[in-house]
Amino acid sequence: MPRVLSGIQPTADSFHLGNYLGAVRQWVALQETYDAFYCVVDLHAITVPQDPRLLTERTRIAAAQLLAAGLDPDKCTLFVQSHVPEHTELAWVLGCMTGFGEASRMTQFKDKSGKVGTETSVGLFTYPVLQAADILLYLADQVPVGEDQRQHLELSRTLAQRFNHRFGETFVVPQPYILKEVAKIYDLQDPSAKMSKSSSSPQGIIDVLDTPDVIRRKISRAVTDTGSEVRADEAEKPGVTNLLRIYSALSGDPVEAIEARYAGAGYGAFKKDLAEQLVATFAPIRERTNAILADPPALDRILARGAGRAGKVAAETMTAVRNRIGLLPATPSLSRTAVADPP
Ligand code: AMP
Ligand code: TRP
Repeated sequence: MPRVLSGIQPTADSFHLGNYLGAVRQWVALQETYDAFYCVVDLHAITVPQDPRLLTERTRIAAAQLLAAGLDPDKCTLFVQSHVPEHTELAWVLGCMTGFGEASRMTQFKDKSGKVGTETSVGLFTYPVLQAADILLYLADQVPVGEDQRQHLELSRTLAQRFNHRFGETFVVPQPYILKEVAKIYDLQDPSAKMSKSSSSPQGIIDVLDTPDVIRRKISRAVTDTGSEVRADEAEKPGVTNLLRIYSALSGDPVEAIEARYAGAGYGAFKKDLAEQLVATFAPIRERTNAILADPPALDRILARGAGRAGKVAAETMTAVRNRIGLLPATPSLSRTAVADPP
């Protein structure tokens, strides 16, 4: 079975509509036909300062939401990145093969470091290298993500090819899996900007865990364009176009069919139905998330099982990597614990 891997950061109390349509929904679909590995990337989250207590809580919330959205631990491997230490080990190796200039060209780094200014960490700079390690460790064929991750995936491909070229065939060169229609969901208040937990206003973003009333209010206040026609037109009607794409993704109906349905009806009726589509999708996820979070030990068991499965694959890849680059193998019978100095 071909393999997929993807990751999502535990940096908010809820995923938003962009995460859901751009990434998570594809994760759920792909677990049926791929050997799927999905991780909550807590080590990526700490590239900007995080409150420790919140980080723990949000890691569980993230995992619970993924399960609630449809990930099945019997069909995929769901784990927490920091539970598999090989991620950071491979990141070091790959970091030693990444050019400083190459890393400097990452647009997400430029955006984010611009925001945090003098607080910018070395970790934020090497973030895409850790991401490459996440992907390459599992020899993933496909990586389902939104459009904003395309450049990071290009770096992962480059690093896989560079390693294979220098040290012999080791890694699979991964392909981005980006669905065009949902690759970039826009801010409801500013349809020229991506919906984003770090830069959108609360009114511009729909959270998966928003209550039905909040969802209805946000959709009714979403920015529409001049005129009253429900018609997709990226240049003239970016707000309505974004809403049409969301409607289409949720309902499965093509955009043209939705345009035809609301011809002459105005924005009001269209938005009302869109809000109900969102409520119908997110209310069950919200309820299941709360149910899962009510039993942390059960959730932690699922994550431990995931880390066990992921760790097996990661350890195998890392052994190959160490051999390839010439690190002296540690002798198992002389392992750290076996020959430890007496206390
Ligand atoms: P992050 O929240 O940055 O960890 O992103 C998790 C996943 O959601 C990644 O695959 C992103 O590419 C995707 N994503 C984030 N924002 C959007 C958006 N506005 N539209 C589509 N996909 C998105
Ligand atoms: N950088 C990704 C984001 O912000 C998250 C991520 C980390 C990821 N590791 C990954 C995505 C590996 C795909 C594969 O969305």
